[in-house]
Amino acid sequence: MTPKTFKIKSFGCQMNVYDGERMSELLSRQGMRAAAESENADLVVLNTCHIREKAAEKAYSDVGRLKREDGSKPLIALAGCVAQAEGAEARRRSQMIDIVVGPQAYHRLPEMVAEASRGGRPVDTAMPAISKFDALPPRRRAAPSAFLTVQEGCDKFCTYCVVPYTRGAEISRAWDDVVAEAHALVDAGAREIVLLGQNVNAWADDRRGLADLIRALARIDGLERIRYTTSHPADMTDALVAAHGEVGKLMPYLHLPVQSGSNRILKAMNRSHTTETYLRVLDKMRAARPDIALSGDFIVGFPGETEEDFEATLQIVDEVRYASAYSFKYSARPGTPAAIMEDQIPQELMDERLRRLQERINGHRLAFNRSKVGCDTQVLIERKGKLPGQMIGRSPWLQSVHVETTAEPGDIVGVTLVAAGPNSMSGAVRQQVAA
Ligand code: SAH
Ligand code: SF4
Ligand code: F3S
Repeated sequence: MTPKTFKIKSFGCQMNVYDGERMSELLSRQGMRAAAESENADLVVLNTCHIREKAAEKAYSDVGRLKREDGSKPLIALAGCVAQAEGAEARRRSQMIDIVVGPQAYHRLPEMVAEASRGGRPVDTAMPAISKFDALPPRRRAAPSAFLTVQEGCDKFCTYCVVPYTRGAEISRAWDDVVAEAHALVDAGAREIVLLGQNVNAWADDRRGLADLIRALARIDGLERIRYTTSHPADMTDALVAAHGEVGKLMPYLHLPVQSGSNRILKAMNRSHTTETYLRVLDKMRAARPDIALSGDFIVGFPGETEEDFEATLQIVDEVRYASAYSFKYSARPGTPAAIMEDQIPQELMDERLRRLQERINGHRLAFNRSKVGCDTQVLIERKGKLPGQMIGRSPWLQSVHVETTAEPGDIVGVTLVAAGPNSMSGAVRQQVAA
C-alpha cells in the first residue's frame, strides 16, 4: 500500500535537521501529508546519528518501538549516518526496516518508498558524483531562523570520528546554488540563515571562500542575520575573521571546537591544530569583534588521557571563558583508529571528568550571560513561550531570550536584557525595530 502520511524524526547534528526538512519537502511533493505523531503515520523516517555509540544504538530501539499493539507497523526508512555506516547490515539487525537510505542518496527516497510499498527492500548508500542538491525541490517554507547546508563531508580524519566515513569526502555546493537557496528561504520568511557544514569554513568555490559568500548573502534584502557552523580551527582564514569585524549581519558568535587542551592528546586525535594556534585564532577573532561569544566542543577520556591532560582541558576552558560549550565522553567507534588505541579510559573516570568539565563550562556560561544584563540589544522572535504573552527568541550571541511581547515569530525586537539564568535570559521590550 502506498503511504499517505509520513513522520520524519531527525537526531544528531543540524545537518540532519536540514536533511530532514528536505526529505519532508520531497515527500510532500509526492502528495503525502506530514503526520503529527509517528504512531499514526504510514511511513516513518528515522534520520539517525552515528557519532557516539549511544546515538547509534538509539536508532534500533526507536525502530523496535514502532511496532503497534495490533502487531502491525508503519513502513520504516532508516536514514542518516547509521544507515550509511551499516547499509544492508542494518536490516539483518532489524527485520522491521524496509528502506535504508544514506545522507547522500535521500533525493531517491520517493522512488524507494514506492518500491518498498510494492514489497521491495531498497538500500541506497551510494555517494553519487551528481549531488542530491540538484534533485531536490525548491524551498517553499522556512522558519525565522533557517538552516542552509553549503558544505558536506570531511577530509580531516580525526582519529575518533566517523563523519569522514558516514558523510564522505569534503564537497562544497556551488556559489549560485547557495545564493539561490538563500533567496528562496528569505522569500519564504527566513530572517536569519545558518550556513551549515561538517567543516563549513572549508567551503570554497573557485577562489571564493566562506567570507566572500557571507558578504554576498549580507546584501540580500530581508535577510537580517547570518551564522555558520561548524568550523575547524585549521580553516579559520583571516578573511573570515575580518568579515566578523565588517559585516553587520554576521552575528557575534563562533562555534570552534578544540576537543582537548592537551597538545599530546590533540596530536593523538589527529587534530591539525595545537592549543597555541587555536588560541591565536581566538585572539584575532576577539580583536576583530570584541563582543564575540565563543563556543566549542570537548571530548573527555580519549585513549591515554591522563589527569594532567584533562587539567589542561580545564585550563583552556578558563582561558577562553566560553559563552557555551558541548562536552562528551569519548565513545569508541568501530573502524576508527582511536578505537584500537591502547589505554582506553574506564567509564567511571570519564564520568568524573565530564562532571568536572561541565561544572567549569556552566560557570563560564552563567558569567557570560550575567555580563550581558543591562545590555540593549535585538532579539529575533522564534516561537511562543510557556506563559501567556511570552515569546522566545535569540540574542545576537545565540542566547535564548524570554520576552513579553505581541511580536510574532520572525519579528526582530529591541530589548533590554534584564536577567540572566544558566540557560536563558529575560528581556524587556524597548521598541519594535521591524515587523
Ligand atoms: N565537524 C565538527 C563536528 C563533528 S561531530 C568538528 O570537527 O568539530 C560533533 C562533535 O562530536 C565533535 O566536535 C566531537 O566533540 C564529538 N565527537 C565526535 N566523535 C566522537 C566520539 N567518537 N566520541 C565522543 N565524542 C565525539
Ligand atoms: Fe569529525 Fe574531525 Fe571531521 Fe570534525 S573535523 S567531522 S571531528 S573528522
Ligand atoms: Fe551524527 Fe552524522 Fe551529524 S554522525 S553528528 S548525524 S554528520
